[in-house]
Amino acid sequence: MIMGFAKDFLWGGATAANQYEGGVHEGGAGLSIADVMTNGSHTVRRQVTWVKPDGETGSTPLCFGSMERHLPEGAVPVELNDPKYYYPSHVTSDFYHHYKEDIRLCAEEGFKCLRFSMKWSRLFPNGDDETVNEEGVKFYSDVFDECLKYGIEPLVTLSHYETPLNLAAKYNGWDSRYLVDKFVKYAETCFERFAGKVKYYLTFNEINCIEFAPYVTAGLIHADPQNIVNATFHQFLASSLATKVAHEKYPDIKIGMMLAYGPTYAYTTDPEDQLLAQQRSNGTLFYADVQMLGRYPNYKLAQYKREGLTIPAQEGDMDIIAKYTCDFLSFSCYGSHVVTLHDENAEAGEGNGGGQPHQVRNPYLKTNAWGWATDPQCLRITLNTFFDRYHCDLFCVENGIGWNDQFEDGTVHDDYRIDYMRANIKSMRDAVEFDGIPLMGYLYWGCVDMVSNGEGEMAKRYGQIYVDADNYGQGTFKRTPKDSYYWYQKCIASNGEDLD
Ligand code: BG6
Repeated sequence: MIMGFAKDFLWGGATAANQYEGGVHEGGAGLSIADVMTNGSHTVRRQVTWVKPDGETGSTPLCFGSMERHLPEGAVPVELNDPKYYYPSHVTSDFYHHYKEDIRLCAEEGFKCLRFSMKWSRLFPNGDDETVNEEGVKFYSDVFDECLKYGIEPLVTLSHYETPLNLAAKYNGWDSRYLVDKFVKYAETCFERFAGKVKYYLTFNEINCIEFAPYVTAGLIHADPQNIVNATFHQFLASSLATKVAHEKYPDIKIGMMLAYGPTYAYTTDPEDQLLAQQRSNGTLFYADVQMLGRYPNYKLAQYKREGLTIPAQEGDMDIIAKYTCDFLSFSCYGSHVVTLHDENAEAGEGNGGGQPHQVRNPYLKTNAWGWATDPQCLRITLNTFFDRYHCDLFCVENGIGWNDQFEDGTVHDDYRIDYMRANIKSMRDAVEFDGIPLMGYLYWGCVDMVSNGEGEMAKRYGQIYVDADNYGQGTFKRTPKDSYYWYQKCIASNGEDLD
């Protein structure tokens, strides 16, 4: 007999503090690396603003989509009080002041789970303070209470592109081992202070994106390949040590890893293209190999050796990584990638996420205005790839589509978003029903409109709930359900059976 989604399947939505929360200068919070990133667009890269010891100021595109890997010598990232720069994270959708309304709307939509990230520097303003900022604890505690009031399970990402700015400026972020203990202290504080309220945590959002945006992902203001290897290792270690604390002291808590993944297809049957696709896929799965299987895979060790890179492991570190793997694998999946060696014009930047050479558009798929393609099989293929390799519980914690929505007749008629969701949820349902994949839940990314990460603009909206705010934080911030809100409500009510 074919079975659908489990009765306790966690339907819901996902957000991140730096794109959604706002209130950056409120409640005693410190800044994170995201708070000094300017706005941008599909054609204009976001910048990180900085100051040098002699007072010279400027900005450098250290964000997604840029190949820049260094701030100028001696410069540190800083918020500049200059009208030339606008920082979208400071206001965004102003969840800080609208959380009750947003959570109520999500509850009415039928959500069983809501993913937030906690801003580390709201709890520890410098990232390494001795004591926790009680106002920050209260804010998140209130948010979780509000969720629980409606029976919504909060899922918390401890680090979603939000390394405390102080740690980036002083230590080159996760390049330094200094951050490991600080993160574990922050994680343990959360486990303790939110005990009984939060059961599911993710350690690092899209941990593999360190290769494309080392500043955004790990606070690196200087990112040569060795710095990236160091930072990656330190995040693995910190994740394992946080998992150790959870397993030993808070057995009800489950810790997930979080991987950005989309299947990579070879454009031709040329074995060279097939090999390239496999290598690309392994390049991503490496992170899950470590966090779910507890060891660096041979292909990665061989690559490091070839490239003269070393893992900064100290005695006992690898045993920790081997012993404290994550409890489940969570992932974002927006679409797929296509690679080939047969197209001289293939550029970095094509397709979802972009940023890698030899990528081309998939002629079978439609793309949105930002070049992201909807692939109706990507979730089924992804889930099978993961389950075959890791045999563990899986959780889709991001999937969605950004669009330049038009607000008309008092709402947004986003049939393109409904089409996307229908195709993706169907693909996921097939994986569960026909392939027997154990899936914990599905969280639609950006359920409430918020600033996009790559572009730092509000115009690329993902939400099922419209927020009346523009790219510069101007507007009434009124919330309005879009057509997709009602579609998803119906889908959830039928536990994924009704996709009409
Ligand atoms: C994921 C991130 O990469 O994709 C989110 O975890 C991000 O933070 C989402 O918002 C969509 O990307 P973007 O750039 O369109 O916001």
